[in-house]
Amino acid sequence: MQLWDFAALTYYRVLDRFSGTLNRLAIDELALRPGEAVLDIGCGTGALLPALAQAVGAQGRVVAMDVSPRMVAVARKRARRWPNVEVRQADACDTDHGAAEFDAAVALGAFSAMPDVPAAVANAADALKPGGRLFVFDVRLAKKTRATRFLRAAYRRVAGFSGADVVVELRRVFERVEPVFRVEGETTAVVVARKVTDTATGSACTPCRPAG
Ligand SMILES: C[S@@+](CC[C@H](N)C(=O)[O-])C[C@H]1O[C@@H](n2cnc3c(N)ncnc32)[C@H](O)[C@@H]1O
Repeated sequence: MQLWDFAALTYYRVLDRFSGTLNRLAIDELALRPGEAVLDIGCGTGALLPALAQAVGAQGRVVAMDVSPRMVAVARKRARRWPNVEVRQADACDTDHGAAEFDAAVALGAFSAMPDVPAAVANAADALKPGGRLFVFDVRLAKKTRATRFLRAAYRRVAGFSGADVVVELRRVFERVEPVFRVEGETTAVVVARKVTDTATGSACTPCRPAG
């Protein structure tokens, strides 16, 4: 069984109890409005889905996605009571979420667990409308400190950590990447990235993929 399928059965039930503060921060920073469309990348068991559904209201739309079938099964169960919440099983590194379909997106602890972070970040950017915002909470294990050395090796082994730094990859694609607050040692990132609109044409900064 894959790590994340296993996690869906076990520690996520526990972790869910502690994710409230982070989830509230994500909702506050995204400043979602009724009627907006929001994408939850690497949604896990869908702990954020009730808050996202509430923030965008009945006229809004929530799409959550995760690669793990068991995570998706739990998230779908949680989302049952909202007809405007859809949970997809897909690989965020290799998925077209829908070009410029979303006003906002969120990725909590998700990008660092993906094998191709640049592709996952570019796919997220492609999915956002001009002016769209992406809230990211993630570890920065690529930063070489004593504390991260062990964690990096362990996460590489158990979670497929590629060595990529999520913030560096976000900066390649998004013109504006602003910290919500700084964490000592910068081994954790809490940022909002914005898809900048071309002021001359009013169109989005496409292509979002970094050159080369
Ligand atoms: C640390 S968990 C975070 C889950 C959730 N965002 C939360 O905060 O509870 C990382 C999640 O990323 C998912 N994931 C890993 N690789 C993925 C990929 N290539 N595409 C989509 N999801 C992926 C895992 O299945 C897992 O649910």
